[in-house]
Amino acid sequence: MKIFIKTYGCQMNERDSEALGALFSAQGDELVSDEKSADVLLFNTCSVRDAAERKAKGKIGFMRKLKKEKPHLIIGVLGCMAQRLGDELLAELPHLDFVLGTGQIHKAPEVVAQLRAERSRLALTEPFPEEVEMLGAHGESSWSGQIAITRGCNRFCSYCIVPYVRGREVSRSQESILLEAQSMVDNGVREILLLGQNVAAYGLNGDIRPPADDHSPFAELLEKLNEIPGLLRIRYTSPYVSYFNKRLIDALSSCSKVCHNIHLPLQSGSNTILKAMNRQYTAESYLEKVAQLRAAMPDLTFSTDVIVGFPGETEEDFLRTRALMNEVGFEQAFIFKYSPRPGAKSAELEDSIPEEVKLERNNILLDDLKARISAKLETLKGSVVEVLVEGVSNRNAARWTGRTGTNFVVHFEPDENCTPGTLRKVEVSRSGGVSLFGRLLPEDK
Ligand code: 5AD
Ligand code: SF4
Repeated sequence: MKIFIKTYGCQMNERDSEALGALFSAQGDELVSDEKSADVLLFNTCSVRDAAERKAKGKIGFMRKLKKEKPHLIIGVLGCMAQRLGDELLAELPHLDFVLGTGQIHKAPEVVAQLRAERSRLALTEPFPEEVEMLGAHGESSWSGQIAITRGCNRFCSYCIVPYVRGREVSRSQESILLEAQSMVDNGVREILLLGQNVAAYGLNGDIRPPADDHSPFAELLEKLNEIPGLLRIRYTSPYVSYFNKRLIDALSSCSKVCHNIHLPLQSGSNTILKAMNRQYTAESYLEKVAQLRAAMPDLTFSTDVIVGFPGETEEDFLRTRALMNEVGFEQAFIFKYSPRPGAKSAELEDSIPEEVKLERNNILLDDLKARISAKLETLKGSVVEVLVEGVSNRNAARWTGRTGTNFVVHFEPDENCTPGTLRKVEVSRSGGVSLFGRLLPEDK
Protein backbone atom coordinates (compact mmCIF):
# COMPACT_ATOMS: atom_id res chain seq x y z
CA MET A 1 0.00 0.00 0.00
CA LYS A 2 1.04 3.57 -0.57
CA ILE A 3 0.55 5.79 2.48
CA PHE A 4 0.42 9.58 2.47
CA ILE A 5 0.76 11.35 5.83
CA LYS A 6 0.17 15.07 6.28
CA THR A 7 0.99 16.63 9.64
CA TYR A 8 -0.38 19.83 11.18
CA GLY A 9 0.73 21.52 14.38
CA CYS A 10 3.52 20.97 16.84
CA GLN A 11 6.66 18.89 17.01
CA MET A 12 4.85 16.25 19.06
CA ASN A 13 2.59 15.71 16.06
CA GLU A 14 5.62 15.55 13.76
CA ARG A 15 7.07 12.90 16.05
CA ASP A 16 3.79 10.91 16.13
CA SER A 17 3.64 11.04 12.34
CA GLU A 18 7.20 9.76 12.11
CA ALA A 19 6.35 6.83 14.39
CA LEU A 20 3.15 6.20 12.46
CA GLY A 21 5.04 6.15 9.16
CA ALA A 22 7.55 3.73 10.68
CA LEU A 23 4.72 1.37 11.73
CA PHE A 24 3.44 1.24 8.14
CA SER A 25 6.95 0.89 6.68
CA ALA A 26 7.67 -1.99 9.05
CA GLN A 27 4.79 -3.97 7.55
CA GLY A 28 6.06 -3.32 4.02
CA ASP A 29 4.01 -0.28 3.02
CA GLU A 30 5.51 2.62 1.12
CA LEU A 31 5.35 6.24 2.33
CA VAL A 32 4.61 8.68 -0.48
CA SER A 33 4.69 12.46 -0.58
CA ASP A 34 2.03 12.84 -3.24
CA GLU A 35 -1.60 12.31 -2.24
CA LYS A 36 -2.73 11.41 -5.77
CA SER A 37 -0.66 8.22 -5.89
CA ALA A 38 -1.67 7.06 -2.39
CA ASP A 39 -4.05 4.30 -1.29
CA VAL A 40 -4.36 5.71 2.20
CA LEU A 41 -4.42 9.38 3.24
CA LEU A 42 -3.72 10.16 6.88
CA PHE A 43 -4.11 13.64 8.36
CA ASN A 44 -2.48 14.11 11.76
CA THR A 45 -4.23 17.21 13.05
CA CYS A 46 -3.89 20.05 15.56
CA SER A 47 -6.55 21.77 17.69
CA VAL A 48 -4.53 24.42 19.45
CA ARG A 49 -6.07 27.28 17.48
CA ASP A 50 -9.21 27.46 15.39
CA ALA A 51 -7.15 28.31 12.29
CA ALA A 52 -5.28 24.98 12.57
CA GLU A 53 -8.55 23.05 12.58
CA ARG A 54 -10.00 25.04 9.69
CA LYS A 55 -6.89 24.47 7.62
CA ALA A 56 -6.98 20.71 8.12
CA LYS A 57 -10.73 20.51 7.52
CA GLY A 58 -10.34 22.51 4.32
CA LYS A 59 -7.67 20.16 3.02
CA ILE A 60 -9.55 17.03 4.01
CA GLY A 61 -12.74 18.41 2.44
CA PHE A 62 -10.82 18.92 -0.77
CA MET A 63 -9.98 15.19 -0.85
CA ARG A 64 -13.60 14.36 -1.63
CA LYS A 65 -12.89 14.71 -5.35
CA LEU A 66 -9.95 12.30 -5.17
CA LYS A 67 -12.10 9.78 -3.35
CA LYS A 68 -14.72 9.98 -6.13
CA GLU A 69 -12.04 9.17 -8.70
CA LYS A 70 -10.52 6.41 -6.54
CA PRO A 71 -13.26 4.74 -4.51
CA HIS A 72 -10.79 2.33 -2.85
CA LEU A 73 -9.00 5.29 -1.24
CA ILE A 74 -9.05 5.25 2.57
CA ILE A 75 -8.99 8.57 4.41
CA GLY A 76 -8.28 8.88 8.13
CA VAL A 77 -8.04 11.83 10.49
CA LEU A 78 -5.82 11.42 13.54
CA GLY A 79 -4.49 13.39 16.48
CA CYS A 80 -5.85 16.35 18.41
CA MET A 81 -8.76 17.44 16.19
CA ALA A 82 -9.75 13.79 15.83
CA GLN A 83 -9.77 13.51 19.62
CA ARG A 84 -11.75 16.71 20.10
CA LEU A 85 -14.43 16.07 17.49
CA GLY A 86 -14.56 12.26 17.17
CA ASP A 87 -17.82 11.11 15.55
CA GLU A 88 -18.70 14.69 14.65
CA LEU A 89 -15.98 14.60 12.02
CA LEU A 90 -17.48 11.50 10.40
CA ALA A 91 -20.82 13.28 10.23
CA GLU A 92 -19.30 16.47 8.84
CA LEU A 93 -17.07 14.82 6.23
CA PRO A 94 -18.98 12.00 4.49
CA HIS A 95 -15.95 10.84 2.50
CA LEU A 96 -13.94 10.25 5.68
CA ASP A 97 -13.38 6.58 6.64
CA PHE A 98 -11.98 6.77 10.13
CA VAL A 99 -11.02 8.99 13.04
CA LEU A 100 -8.32 8.08 15.60
CA GLY A 101 -7.77 10.25 18.67
CA THR A 102 -4.41 11.00 20.27
CA GLY A 103 -4.41 7.77 22.30
CA GLN A 104 -5.31 5.55 19.35
CA ILE A 105 -2.87 6.62 16.62
CA HIS A 106 -0.84 3.41 16.89
CA LYS A 107 -3.94 1.47 15.79
CA ALA A 108 -3.86 3.03 12.31
CA PRO A 109 -2.27 0.03 10.49
CA GLU A 110 -4.79 -2.35 12.06
CA VAL A 111 -7.75 -0.06 11.31
CA VAL A 112 -6.68 0.45 7.70
CA ALA A 113 -6.41 -3.32 7.20
CA GLN A 114 -9.85 -3.80 8.73
CA LEU A 115 -11.45 -1.10 6.56
CA ARG A 116 -9.91 -2.52 3.41
CA ALA A 117 -11.44 -5.89 4.20
CA GLU A 118 -14.91 -4.61 5.08
CA ARG A 119 -15.81 -1.09 4.07
CA SER A 120 -17.22 0.70 7.10
CA ARG A 121 -16.50 3.80 9.15
CA LEU A 122 -15.25 4.23 12.68
CA ALA A 123 -14.08 6.73 15.28
CA LEU A 124 -11.90 5.69 18.24
CA THR A 125 -11.11 8.28 20.89
CA GLU A 126 -10.44 6.29 24.07
CA PRO A 127 -7.41 7.51 25.99
CA PHE A 128 -4.58 5.01 26.12
CA PRO A 129 -1.84 5.71 28.63
CA GLU A 130 0.20 2.89 27.11
CA GLU A 131 0.48 5.06 24.04
CA VAL A 132 3.50 6.56 25.74
CA GLU A 133 5.57 3.47 24.96
CA MET A 134 3.72 2.41 21.84
CA LEU A 135 4.77 5.23 19.57
CA GLY A 136 8.49 4.58 19.94
CA ALA A 137 9.21 3.61 16.31
CA HIS A 138 11.54 5.77 14.24
CA GLY A 139 11.71 6.38 10.51
CA GLU A 140 14.82 6.62 8.39
CA SER A 141 17.61 8.03 10.51
CA SER A 142 19.30 11.28 9.79
CA TRP A 143 21.72 13.21 11.97
CA SER A 144 18.87 14.50 14.11
CA GLY A 145 16.01 12.77 15.86
CA GLN A 146 13.25 13.39 18.36
CA ILE A 147 12.12 11.49 21.44
CA ALA A 148 8.79 12.09 23.20
CA ILE A 149 9.65 11.85 26.91
CA THR A 150 6.27 12.88 28.29
CA ARG A 151 2.78 13.02 26.86
CA GLY A 152 -0.23 15.06 27.85
CA CYS A 153 -0.35 18.00 30.21
CA ASN A 154 -1.69 18.63 33.71
CA ARG A 155 -1.35 22.37 33.82
CA PHE A 156 -4.72 23.46 32.41
CA CYS A 157 -3.76 26.93 31.26
CA SER A 158 -7.17 28.48 30.76
CA TYR A 159 -6.85 29.07 26.99
CA CYS A 160 -5.38 25.69 26.14
CA ILE A 161 -7.07 22.63 24.67
CA VAL A 162 -4.04 20.36 25.05
CA PRO A 163 -4.92 18.80 28.45
CA TYR A 164 -8.33 17.86 27.01
CA VAL A 165 -7.13 16.39 23.72
CA ARG A 166 -3.86 14.85 24.87
CA GLY A 167 -4.95 13.81 28.34
CA ARG A 168 -3.10 13.72 31.62
CA GLU A 169 0.66 14.04 31.78
CA VAL A 170 2.51 10.73 31.66
CA SER A 171 6.30 10.33 31.71
CA ARG A 172 8.12 7.45 30.09
CA SER A 173 10.65 5.48 32.08
CA GLN A 174 14.21 6.75 32.02
CA GLU A 175 15.34 3.31 30.92
CA SER A 176 13.19 3.22 27.79
CA ILE A 177 14.24 6.75 26.79
CA LEU A 178 17.93 5.89 27.19
CA LEU A 179 17.50 2.72 25.13
CA GLU A 180 15.72 4.68 22.40
CA ALA A 181 18.43 7.37 22.44
CA GLN A 182 21.22 4.78 22.27
CA SER A 183 19.64 3.03 19.32
CA MET A 184 19.17 6.33 17.51
CA VAL A 185 22.82 7.23 18.06
CA ASP A 186 23.83 3.76 16.82
CA ASN A 187 21.90 4.61 13.65
CA GLY A 188 23.77 7.87 13.13
CA VAL A 189 21.71 10.41 15.07
CA ARG A 190 23.95 13.17 16.50
CA GLU A 191 21.37 15.57 17.89
CA ILE A 192 18.36 14.58 19.96
CA LEU A 193 15.39 16.82 20.63
CA LEU A 194 13.42 15.79 23.73
CA LEU A 195 9.73 16.53 23.43
CA GLY A 196 6.92 17.06 25.88
CA GLN A 197 4.20 19.59 26.64
CA ASN A 198 6.02 20.31 29.86
CA VAL A 199 9.39 18.52 29.57
CA ALA A 200 10.94 19.89 32.73
CA ALA A 201 8.12 18.21 34.71
CA TYR A 202 9.45 14.88 33.45
CA GLY A 203 9.29 12.15 36.09
CA LEU A 204 7.27 14.12 38.62
CA ASN A 205 4.28 11.78 38.35
CA GLY A 206 1.97 14.51 37.14
CA ASP A 207 2.33 16.59 40.30
CA ILE A 208 1.87 20.19 39.23
CA ARG A 209 3.72 21.64 42.19
CA PRO A 210 7.26 22.48 41.13
CA PRO A 211 9.64 20.19 43.06
CA ALA A 212 12.09 21.06 45.83
CA ASP A 213 15.30 22.75 44.72
CA ASP A 214 17.35 19.56 44.90
CA HIS A 215 14.97 17.33 42.93
CA SER A 216 14.68 17.12 39.13
CA PRO A 217 14.21 13.82 37.30
CA PHE A 218 14.58 15.82 34.08
CA ALA A 219 18.06 16.90 35.19
CA GLU A 220 18.93 13.25 35.90
CA LEU A 221 17.74 12.26 32.43
CA LEU A 222 19.84 14.99 30.79
CA GLU A 223 22.92 13.85 32.71
CA LYS A 224 22.46 10.26 31.55
CA LEU A 225 21.90 11.30 27.93
CA ASN A 226 24.94 13.56 28.13
CA GLU A 227 27.09 10.46 28.72
CA ILE A 228 26.10 8.69 25.48
CA PRO A 229 29.23 8.53 23.30
CA GLY A 230 28.67 9.80 19.77
CA LEU A 231 25.75 12.00 20.72
CA LEU A 232 26.78 15.62 20.14
CA ARG A 233 23.80 17.73 21.10
CA ILE A 234 20.70 17.58 23.27
CA ARG A 235 17.78 20.00 22.90
CA TYR A 236 14.39 20.03 24.60
CA THR A 237 11.02 21.72 24.18
CA SER A 238 8.95 23.07 25.86
CA PRO A 239 9.67 23.58 29.55
CA TYR A 240 7.42 25.54 31.93
CA VAL A 241 9.36 28.24 33.74
CA SER A 242 8.55 27.18 37.32
CA TYR A 243 10.41 23.86 37.00
CA PHE A 244 13.87 25.40 36.54
CA ASN A 245 15.12 24.78 40.06
CA LYS A 246 18.72 24.75 41.26
CA ARG A 247 19.17 21.06 40.48
CA LEU A 248 18.07 21.57 36.86
CA ILE A 249 20.01 24.78 36.29
CA ASP A 250 23.18 23.07 37.60
CA ALA A 251 22.64 20.14 35.22
CA LEU A 252 22.01 22.41 32.25
CA SER A 253 25.25 24.24 32.81
CA SER A 254 27.35 21.16 33.56
CA CYS A 255 26.12 18.92 30.70
CA SER A 256 28.32 19.93 27.76
CA LYS A 257 25.95 18.49 25.14
CA VAL A 258 22.85 20.31 26.32
CA CYS A 259 22.35 23.33 24.05
CA HIS A 260 22.32 26.81 25.52
CA ASN A 261 18.93 27.73 24.10
CA ILE A 262 15.64 27.57 25.96
CA HIS A 263 12.16 27.87 24.56
CA LEU A 264 10.44 29.36 27.58
CA PRO A 265 6.77 30.18 26.93
CA LEU A 266 5.86 33.51 28.52
CA GLN A 267 2.29 33.95 27.15
CA SER A 268 1.89 37.39 28.73
CA GLY A 269 3.90 39.96 30.66
CA SER A 270 0.88 41.19 32.64
CA ASN A 271 0.26 39.60 36.03
CA THR A 272 -3.48 40.13 35.66
CA ILE A 273 -3.54 38.24 32.37
CA LEU A 274 -1.14 35.55 33.61
CA LYS A 275 -3.53 34.93 36.48
CA ALA A 276 -6.52 34.74 34.15
CA MET A 277 -4.54 32.32 32.01
CA ASN A 278 -3.90 30.16 35.09
CA ARG A 279 -0.16 30.48 34.58
CA GLN A 280 1.59 29.85 37.90
CA TYR A 281 4.16 32.63 37.77
CA THR A 282 4.38 36.40 37.64
CA ALA A 283 6.29 38.69 35.33
CA GLU A 284 8.74 39.24 38.20
CA SER A 285 9.32 35.56 38.93
CA TYR A 286 9.75 34.83 35.22
CA LEU A 287 12.44 37.54 34.99
CA GLU A 288 14.08 36.19 38.11
CA LYS A 289 14.36 32.69 36.55
CA VAL A 290 15.81 34.14 33.38
CA ALA A 291 18.39 36.00 35.48
CA GLN A 292 19.33 32.81 37.37
CA LEU A 293 19.66 30.88 34.11
CA ARG A 294 21.76 33.62 32.52
CA ALA A 295 23.99 33.83 35.58
CA ALA A 296 24.75 30.11 35.16
CA MET A 297 25.08 30.24 31.34
CA PRO A 298 25.92 33.73 30.06
CA ASP A 299 25.61 32.77 26.36
CA LEU A 300 22.10 31.36 26.81
CA THR A 301 19.50 32.42 24.22
CA PHE A 302 15.76 32.39 24.76
CA SER A 303 12.73 31.97 22.58
CA THR A 304 9.12 32.16 23.67
CA ASP A 305 5.42 31.89 22.92
CA VAL A 306 3.14 34.86 23.53
CA ILE A 307 -0.61 35.22 23.11
CA VAL A 308 -2.03 38.66 22.27
CA GLY A 309 -5.67 39.58 22.70
CA PHE A 310 -6.57 37.26 25.57
CA PRO A 311 -10.04 38.25 26.89
CA GLY A 312 -9.80 41.53 28.78
CA GLU A 313 -6.21 42.32 27.71
CA THR A 314 -5.95 46.11 28.05
CA GLU A 315 -3.48 48.33 26.25
CA GLU A 316 -1.56 48.49 29.52
CA ASP A 317 -1.45 44.69 29.82
CA PHE A 318 -0.17 44.50 26.28
CA LEU A 319 2.51 47.14 26.92
CA ARG A 320 3.70 45.11 29.89
CA THR A 321 4.13 42.11 27.61
CA ARG A 322 5.99 44.25 25.12
CA ALA A 323 8.28 45.71 27.77
CA LEU A 324 9.00 42.32 29.30
CA MET A 325 9.84 40.79 25.93
CA ASN A 326 12.30 43.58 25.26
CA GLU A 327 13.74 43.26 28.74
CA VAL A 328 14.41 39.54 28.35
CA GLY A 329 15.61 40.18 24.79
CA PHE A 330 14.18 36.98 23.30
CA GLU A 331 16.17 35.92 20.25
CA GLN A 332 13.09 34.19 18.81
CA ALA A 333 9.37 34.39 19.56
CA PHE A 334 6.13 32.93 18.30
CA ILE A 335 3.27 35.35 18.68
CA PHE A 336 -0.30 34.04 18.55
CA LYS A 337 -3.58 35.85 18.35
CA TYR A 338 -5.92 34.50 21.01
CA SER A 339 -8.36 31.94 19.66
CA PRO A 340 -11.13 30.64 21.95
CA ARG A 341 -11.12 26.84 22.12
CA PRO A 342 -14.48 25.28 23.00
CA GLY A 343 -13.88 23.08 26.03
CA ALA A 344 -11.02 25.14 27.44
CA LYS A 345 -11.86 27.35 30.45
CA SER A 346 -11.29 30.74 28.81
CA ALA A 347 -13.82 29.95 26.07
CA GLU A 348 -16.44 30.83 28.69
CA LEU A 349 -15.13 34.41 28.65
CA GLU A 350 -16.15 36.83 25.94
CA ASP A 351 -13.51 37.00 23.20
CA SER A 352 -13.45 40.73 23.84
CA ILE A 353 -10.47 42.00 21.85
CA PRO A 354 -11.34 42.88 18.24
CA GLU A 355 -9.43 41.05 15.53
CA GLU A 356 -7.78 44.24 14.27
CA VAL A 357 -6.44 45.02 17.75
CA LYS A 358 -5.06 41.48 18.02
CA LEU A 359 -3.41 41.93 14.65
CA GLU A 360 -1.96 45.30 15.57
CA ARG A 361 -0.49 43.95 18.83
CA ASN A 362 0.81 40.93 16.98
CA ASN A 363 2.59 43.14 14.44
CA ILE A 364 4.10 45.42 17.07
CA LEU A 365 5.68 42.44 18.82
CA LEU A 366 6.92 41.03 15.53
CA ASP A 367 8.54 44.35 14.59
CA ASP A 368 10.23 44.51 18.00
CA LEU A 369 11.45 40.96 17.50
CA LYS A 370 12.89 41.71 14.06
CA ALA A 371 14.81 44.69 15.40
CA ARG A 372 16.12 42.66 18.34
CA ILE A 373 17.22 39.77 16.13
CA SER A 374 19.17 41.96 13.74
CA ALA A 375 20.85 43.81 16.61
CA LYS A 376 21.79 40.48 18.20
CA LEU A 377 23.14 39.04 14.94
CA GLU A 378 25.26 42.17 14.45
CA THR A 379 26.97 41.52 17.78
CA LEU A 380 28.07 38.09 16.53
CA LYS A 381 29.94 39.52 13.55
CA GLY A 382 33.65 38.65 13.71
CA SER A 383 33.14 35.89 16.30
CA VAL A 384 33.92 32.22 15.80
CA VAL A 385 30.92 29.97 16.44
CA GLU A 386 30.57 26.21 16.57
CA VAL A 387 27.80 24.79 14.39
CA LEU A 388 26.32 21.37 13.89
CA VAL A 389 26.40 21.00 10.11
CA GLU A 390 22.88 20.42 8.72
CA GLY A 391 23.37 20.18 4.94
CA VAL A 392 22.87 22.14 1.74
CA SER A 393 21.06 25.45 2.20
CA ASN A 394 17.60 25.37 0.70
CA ARG A 395 18.00 28.97 -0.45
CA ASN A 396 21.32 28.63 -2.27
CA ALA A 397 22.70 25.27 -3.42
CA ALA A 398 26.30 26.55 -3.28
CA ARG A 399 26.03 27.06 0.47
CA TRP A 400 25.54 24.79 3.43
CA THR A 401 23.93 25.61 6.73
CA GLY A 402 24.66 24.77 10.32
CA ARG A 403 23.15 25.79 13.61
CA THR A 404 24.82 27.06 16.75
CA GLY A 405 23.92 25.55 20.11
CA THR A 406 22.26 28.89 20.81
CA ASN A 407 20.06 28.21 17.76
CA PHE A 408 21.35 30.68 15.17
CA VAL A 409 21.46 29.46 11.58
CA VAL A 410 24.80 30.05 9.84
CA HIS A 411 25.39 29.81 6.07
CA PHE A 412 28.85 29.00 4.69
CA GLU A 413 30.63 27.51 1.68
CA PRO A 414 31.44 23.88 2.39
CA ASP A 415 34.83 22.17 2.14
CA GLU A 416 35.41 18.55 1.09
CA ASN A 417 35.07 17.32 4.69
CA CYS A 418 31.66 18.85 5.23
CA THR A 419 29.24 16.20 6.50
CA PRO A 420 25.80 16.65 8.06
CA GLY A 421 25.85 15.89 11.76
CA THR A 422 29.43 17.03 12.45
CA LEU A 423 30.58 19.96 14.57
CA ARG A 424 32.55 22.65 12.76
CA LYS A 425 33.75 26.16 13.48
CA VAL A 426 32.67 29.12 11.38
CA GLU A 427 33.96 32.67 11.49
CA VAL A 428 30.94 34.96 11.20
CA SER A 429 31.42 37.61 8.51
CA ARG A 430 27.98 39.17 8.20
CA SER A 431 24.38 38.90 9.19
CA GLY A 432 21.44 38.88 6.84
CA GLY A 433 17.76 38.76 7.77
CA VAL A 434 17.40 36.20 10.51
CA SER A 435 20.62 34.27 9.95
CA LEU A 436 24.39 34.59 9.81
CA PHE A 437 26.95 34.12 7.04
CA GLY A 438 30.53 33.09 7.60
CA ARG A 439 33.71 31.29 6.59
CA LEU A 440 34.12 27.64 7.46
CA LEU A 441 37.38 27.14 9.37
CA PRO A 442 39.58 24.11 8.69
CA GLU A 443 38.77 21.06 10.79
CA ASP A 444 40.52 20.87 14.16
CA LYS A 445 43.25 18.29 14.01
N1 5AD B 1 -5.13 30.80 21.29
C1 5AD B 1 -3.94 31.28 20.84
N2 5AD B 1 -2.77 30.69 21.07
C2 5AD B 1 -2.77 29.57 21.81
N3 5AD B 1 -1.77 28.77 22.23
C3 5AD B 1 -2.30 27.74 22.92
N4 5AD B 1 -3.65 27.86 22.98
C4 5AD B 1 -3.96 29.00 22.30
C5 5AD B 1 -5.17 29.66 22.02
N5 5AD B 1 -6.32 29.21 22.47
C6 5AD B 1 -0.36 29.05 21.97
C7 5AD B 1 0.43 29.18 23.27
C8 5AD B 1 1.23 27.92 23.29
C9 5AD B 1 1.45 27.67 21.81
C10 5AD B 1 1.86 26.30 21.46
O1 5AD B 1 0.19 27.97 21.24
O2 5AD B 1 1.26 30.31 23.16
O3 5AD B 1 2.46 28.05 24.00
FE1 SF4 C 1 -1.31 24.02 27.20
FE2 SF4 C 1 -0.40 25.20 29.44
FE3 SF4 C 1 -0.11 22.54 29.10
FE4 SF4 C 1 1.34 24.24 27.60
S1 SF4 C 1 1.47 24.03 29.87
S2 SF4 C 1 0.21 22.40 26.87
S3 SF4 C 1 -0.08 25.92 27.30
S4 SF4 C 1 -2.06 23.64 29.31
